[in-house]
Amino acid sequence: MENRAKPRAYVETYGCQMNIADGELMEGILGGAGYDIASSPEDADVILVNTCAIREHAERRVLGRVGQLNHFKRLRPRVVLGVTGCMAQRMKDTLLEKAPYVDLIVGPDEYRGLAAAVDEIRAANDPGKPRHRLSMVELRIGEDYQGLEQQRRSAVTAWVPIQRGCDHRCTYCIVPYVRGPEKNRDAAEVLEEVKRIAADGITEVTLLGQTVNSYSHGGWNFARLLQSVSQVRGIQRTRFTSPHPNDVTPELVEVMAEEDGVCEHIHLPLQSGSDRVLRRMLRRHTVEDYLAKVEMLRDAVQGIAISTDIIVAFPDETDEDFEETLELVREVRFDEAYTYRYSPRAGTPATRLPASQFIPDRVAQERLEALIAETRAIQAEINELDVGRVEELLVEKMGRDEGMIMGRTRRNKVVVAPGDESDIGRYINVRLTRSTGATFVAARFPKAKPSRFSWLPMHELGGV
Ligand code: SAH
Ligand code: SF4
Ligand code: F3S
Repeated sequence: MENRAKPRAYVETYGCQMNIADGELMEGILGGAGYDIASSPEDADVILVNTCAIREHAERRVLGRVGQLNHFKRLRPRVVLGVTGCMAQRMKDTLLEKAPYVDLIVGPDEYRGLAAAVDEIRAANDPGKPRHRLSMVELRIGEDYQGLEQQRRSAVTAWVPIQRGCDHRCTYCIVPYVRGPEKNRDAAEVLEEVKRIAADGITEVTLLGQTVNSYSHGGWNFARLLQSVSQVRGIQRTRFTSPHPNDVTPELVEVMAEEDGVCEHIHLPLQSGSDRVLRRMLRRHTVEDYLAKVEMLRDAVQGIAISTDIIVAFPDETDEDFEETLELVREVRFDEAYTYRYSPRAGTPATRLPASQFIPDRVAQERLEALIAETRAIQAEINELDVGRVEELLVEKMGRDEGMIMGRTRRNKVVVAPGDESDIGRYINVRLTRSTGATFVAARFPKAKPSRFSWLPMHELGGV
């Protein structure tokens, strides 16, 4: 009897958490259609690169990677090489022209048809015949992703998209053009999914959306959904990303403060500390609005960690504008800041600004470096103050060094501590012994205590 192994599919994902969730969705779809999911491209029959379009640099790297993966196609001509995700959606058929070895292009709203498309190409794939190539790049307002299941890669923490697309039009941003308008999932379905996640033994979930807290569906708002998710039996930590400052409501802050399951961390994109730049970015909030939200969060959620995204050198950003960003960063004191140089994305409104307003590379680079220096110094100071605390870690994986595990605190701080494989997925108590600037090294701390006290400094725990 012929013993024919199943065909193998490999998905390599770039970009944000939403894209990671989509990569898992593709694996779920292909797994359900009879493919084995490969963990490397070497022996895969189908290779998909799930791409990001947010900055030009990210795109260039990914295009290079697709070229590299063509190597496997040269070795085995029947391999199907596909590009999915946001860059596929942005470039559409020009990608097929630019990369003649690519067989398949699939945008974010077309994953339902992914397995059929791959099968179709494989069936037609005969070295004697012309190649069969497909491009699927419709944005489908009616696609609700119902019935499609992610094949989750982590047994510890789960990404749960509750919203797709974006109704904002921040003038620098490509997302609304590659992911379409905001679509929110049915709350009951989200809760069913979270229950299944909990039944699988996963205890941490992160709710995902481009402006996740603008979620609204059938009488449910985000605060209510967050509360219900955090109360699902078995779920111990609930996170969400990324909220828009305008949709940080008193009700949401109250849920964050009251629900033990909701972690004391928020990623709240700022983008600029200058009202003039924020206006030109069409962010729809001022510096004052932002600060008011930070204050509301800090007043209600004791010890909350706040991270952010900042763009420097948006067209016409002056030295004074940039200085205002530095000042705001000093005022807020972010636990973490992801900093970017403005990258023009074709088709977005900012690219139509006069060429004279674009900031020279040298100035942009200087601003980026100054901002990084500032935010890193602040982060190091904040983290230094945390040294000595006892924290609860959810162990995610083995660390880079032997005999060390890596986990996160509720406030999303990355910590390495002694441990082994058996710790993965468990909650352990550690004492932070050293900060490396952005992350921590810790010692095991055996004393069991309620997790809601995990942020208390040692002396308040009775001293050890
Ligand atoms: N939906 C999220 C952001 C998604 S993109 C939100 O609104 O918060 C993640 C980050 O990439 C943004 O917050 C922004 O800081 C950065 N970004 C987006 N477009 C960019 C561009 N054209 N150039 C540089 N950075 C950009
Ligand atoms: Fe982009 Fe703005 Fe939408 Fe975020 S809110 S995805 S930055 S358009
Ligand atoms: Fe990138 Fe698309 Fe996410 S552009 S940041 S992968 S939504």
